[in-house]
Amino acid sequence: MDHTKNFTTPLVGSAGIPALGFGTWELKGSDGVEGVATALNMGYEHIDTAQAYHNEEKVAEGIKESGVDRDKFFLTAKIFPEDGHFEPEKFIEQAKISQDRLGTTPDLLLLHWPDPDVALERTLDAAQKVRQMGLTKHIGVSNFTIEYLKRALAYEPEIVCNQVEYHPFIDQSKLESFMREHKMALTAYSPLARGDAFDSDVLKKIADETGSSVSQVTLAWIMARGHICIPKATSKDHIADNLKSRDLKLTDEQIDQISALRSSSGRKIDPDFAPEWDDSAA
Ligand SMILES: NC(=O)c1ccc[n+]([C@@H]2O[C@H](COP(=O)([O-])OP(=O)(O)OC[C@H]3O[C@@H](n4cnc5c(N)ncnc54)[C@H](OP(=O)(O)O)[C@@H]3O)[C@@H](O)[C@H]2O)c1
Repeated sequence: MDHTKNFTTPLVGSAGIPALGFGTWELKGSDGVEGVATALNMGYEHIDTAQAYHNEEKVAEGIKESGVDRDKFFLTAKIFPEDGHFEPEKFIEQAKISQDRLGTTPDLLLLHWPDPDVALERTLDAAQKVRQMGLTKHIGVSNFTIEYLKRALAYEPEIVCNQVEYHPFIDQSKLESFMREHKMALTAYSPLARGDAFDSDVLKKIADETGSSVSQVTLAWIMARGHICIPKATSKDHIADNLKSRDLKLTDEQIDQISALRSSSGRKIDPDFAPEWDDSAA
């Protein structure tokens, strides 16, 4: 199952993950089906879903409705640490359930959040089995801090990606350096800061300079930093707008101006069960 040779989007990391993907959090019901079908038909080559989004069947319907061949896109899925799902037997069971709901094998399966209640090595052992069983091609993690990554890599060096909150207003520089050093792909979630990007004067100014949109500028900045981004959009116009970010090249000066927006208090997603983050001043 080698999809990589068919992609036109730049690829990141050892798993060859297309740098622009389509996020599906909150895309439920017909929005989920239409969003995925529209994105695939427009040329997105990466779809991001999760058990916790309760839309895996809708993603599957969208894939079917699009008529796009399976080898033309990369699919990321995630298992959430609830109801003991990170216990080894349950993890394997959940991977089978996801494959079944999606109607296809994900290319990448992520541990959605660290689970302080189950030894990480036990879950990673199950994840290795899931990969051997052909229930995913690659394994990765999400919302992992440097401490969690160190422990994970000591047990399983083939963790291909960490999906974390990343946009112009959050300072992830410590985590970013560690991940670069370990050649691990970074997938930026909430890349538009859940809409806050549209209020930034700096991003608006660069959008004017480049004749593009704030969204394109923000996503192009993330890709210029060597990362993957997975914006979520509901309307066709937004889905199309974001896709054009692949063609936008920012100058070094513009990249630096955007990087200067980062702050240690810019995090948007911080639930009670989150680990102690690595955010730091730039
Ligand atoms: N691993 C994790 O724990 C985790 C956590 C959060 C998110 N994620 C993933 O990351 C994806 C993206 O993050 P997100 O959904 O939090 O937020 P986001 O992508 O940063 O922002 C989505 C918001 O931006 C708007 N938008 C999108 N494109 C636009 C455009 N071109 N012009 C104007 N507005 C635009 C959307 O509006 P419309 O919808 O109205 O178009 C929506 O309100 C999620 O869907 C999910 O797949 C993962």
